Amino acid sequence: MTADPDTARSANRRDLEQGIERDFSRRMSYGDYLQLDRLLSAQHPLSDPPQHDELLFIVQHQTSELWLKLLIHELRSARALLAADELPQALKRLARVKHIQHTLTDQWSVLATLTPSEYAQIRPFLATSSGFQSAQYREVEFLLGNKNADMVEVFAHDPGARAELQQLLAEPSLYDEFARYLHRRGYAVPAAVLDRDVTQPYRQDDDLVSVFAEVYATPHEHWGVYETCEELVDVEDNFQQWRFRHLQVVQRTIGQRTGTGGSSGVHFLRRALDLTFFPELYAVRAQVG
Ligand code: HEM
Repeated sequence: MTADPDTARSANRRDLEQGIERDFSRRMSYGDYLQLDRLLSAQHPLSDPPQHDELLFIVQHQTSELWLKLLIHELRSARALLAADELPQALKRLARVKHIQHTLTDQWSVLATLTPSEYAQIRPFLATSSGFQSAQYREVEFLLGNKNADMVEVFAHDPGARAELQQLLAEPSLYDEFARYLHRRGYAVPAAVLDRDVTQPYRQDDDLVSVFAEVYATPHEHWGVYETCEELVDVEDNFQQWRFRHLQVVQRTIGQRTGTGGSSGVHFLRRALDLTFFPELYAVRAQVG
């Protein structure tokens, strides 16, 4: 029966349309497709007596991990597209990467509502677990080029994660693929960059800075490359903003205390702000104009 729209409006209710599916006994529902029964039953607070704020802590971490999963998916694809000389498609991927990064950074404001007193109620139940042990976070770092073989050993207890990271360590990063792309396009990328041991942390090469200096001196002649450089700088900038917001939240929650993962805490995290993925793209800025 179709209700009179005016009557429904005055009753402040929305009548369901006839075509709307209601019987999911034999059809796939929203919850079926998304496996919400599994997803929403994966939050298991450990505090005893139960602490109200532990669910926030768990959900914030789990949602971060979901976004990291998508970030890895997009970064892997961007890297493959660059390797296949599909630059516009790779840039499309990076556009999405940047939005995911913004979401990850913005969501710190939710956890920032956790006071030191509230965190102190949960901390004993976290034991030695720490975001430092996030395999997906390391995968993102490796994909972007922040290689560190020591990080692989943190996952000795988890053969799947360890193998994944070991493989990414040995593969070229997004930036390595960009350098190879530039080489194929005729740019004078130094052999030291092209032949580098990709398992090692990326080190700045001054000859590559000179290549970018030419791009930035005459952007219109190098538009696709110039645009890609700026996209990469956006990605690094966004990554640093995530690190900084994490640092700020840690500082307001535990101050100068050590972390559950065993580090010095804020001091250790602050040192990550000195790490860079694309050093030449920052060095070139001093040479423009
Ligand atoms: C109140 C909440 C949080 C506190 C107090 C905190 C504290 C810390 C501390 C002290 C470290 C250094 C390692 C250690 O000793 O444990 C760390 C590392 C880390 N945390 Fe958090 N964290 C919080 C929330 C989060 C959230 C929500 C995420 C999201 C996934 C996260 C991800 C990470 C990552 C990826 C690292 C490694 C960073 C690096 O290696 O530079 N943390 N955290």
